[in-house]
Parts: sequence; C-alpha cells; structure tokens
Amino acid sequence: MKITEHLPARLVETVRSLLSDERWYHTLCVVEWCTKLAKRFELDWKKCALVGLLHDMFRDTEVEKLVKMARVYSITPTRFERAHPVLLHGKVAAEYAKRTLEIDEEMYMAIAFHSSGHPELGGIGKALVVSDSVAKDREYEGVETLRRESLEDLNTAYIKVIAQKITYAVERRLYVLQETVETWNEYLERSDLCGI
Ligand SMILES: [Fe+2]
Ligand SMILES: [Fe+2]
Repeated sequence: MKITEHLPARLVETVRSLLSDERWYHTLCVVEWCTKLAKRFELDWKKCALVGLLHDMFRDTEVEKLVKMARVYSITPTRFERAHPVLLHGKVAAEYAKRTLEIDEEMYMAIAFHSSGHPELGGIGKALVVSDSVAKDREYEGVETLRRESLEDLNTAYIKVIAQKITYAVERRLYVLQETVETWNEYLERSDLCGI
C-alpha cells in the first residue's frame, strides 16, 4: 500500500514539488508513523496522515519567501523566529492549510507547533511531534527504544521527546523554544511524568 494513498493526490504533488528528495522521504516516514500511532491510540488517522504530509511543506522554502509569507498571513514572529526565520515553517504551513483546506483547530496547532511542542496539543499534535522525532528516517542513539515506547504510551513518548529537545538545545548552546519550556513545565505541574 502506498503511504500517500488516502491523501488528496494534488496536495501530495504540491508538497512533493516544494521539497528536496531527502525532506520528501522524511515527510513520507512521518506520515507513515503518525498513521501508525493514530491507529494504535484511536485517533483520526486521516487527520494524522494529513498533518504529517503538511508539517514540513515550507521547510525547504527560501528564508526571504518564508518571512514574506508570514507577513501576508499576519504572523508576528517571536524573537527566536526573527533570529532564525526557518522556525516559521510550521506556523506558515498551518496558516496555508487553514486557508486552503478544511482543517480544525487541533490540526492547526499540530502543524504550527510541531517543532516546539505546545502545552495545548491534543492527540494529533502529540502524535506528530513524536513521529517527527522517531519516524524511520531518524537515526540517533536511543531512537529504537523511543520508537517502541511511542507505540506503548503516547504521552510518555511525547514528554520524552520534549525533554530530548531541551537537552539537545542546551548541549549545543541553541535556544530552547518558549513553547517547549512551557510544555515541560505544564507536564510537571500536571504530575504527568510517570514513566520517565
Ligand atoms: Fe519541521
Ligand atoms: Fe519534520
């Protein structure tokens, strides 16, 4: 079965045309894993496949164009997005999807905050954030374990991915995004950290 079989063919073509071969392969892997998680955790798998397809559609777009699109969509960049405009690719994709397709708020949030996570993400958003980090194109120490765990408990896998993003950024002296920190703190407050 083709991974994109149930997705709108013209949309698949559009996304394919915007991405490098490597990014397209990553996108297919995310669609595949997100669909798998949806079926495992009884989420809407068509919505999960769609956010997987769209999440990085502007990831290879030139920075100048991305900034222009953000302006057209009335997105006010954060100071991190001003310093690194590539970070806008999720929010721009979410706005594009909102204007051209019928996506609901949960899908919008999932696409917009797929890089950082967000305290308000629902199941679809969590599945996307986790898939983005553990899909089969990802290779790093511990990914096999996290991949397996993601099929056991989505919340635990999600918070582990959030923790991983924080550790990764600190080790490389990169910004820890605001929403990533807020997600971590929110989970601590909810005492939802069992299993990590
Ligand atoms: Fe991305
Ligand atoms: Fe991605």
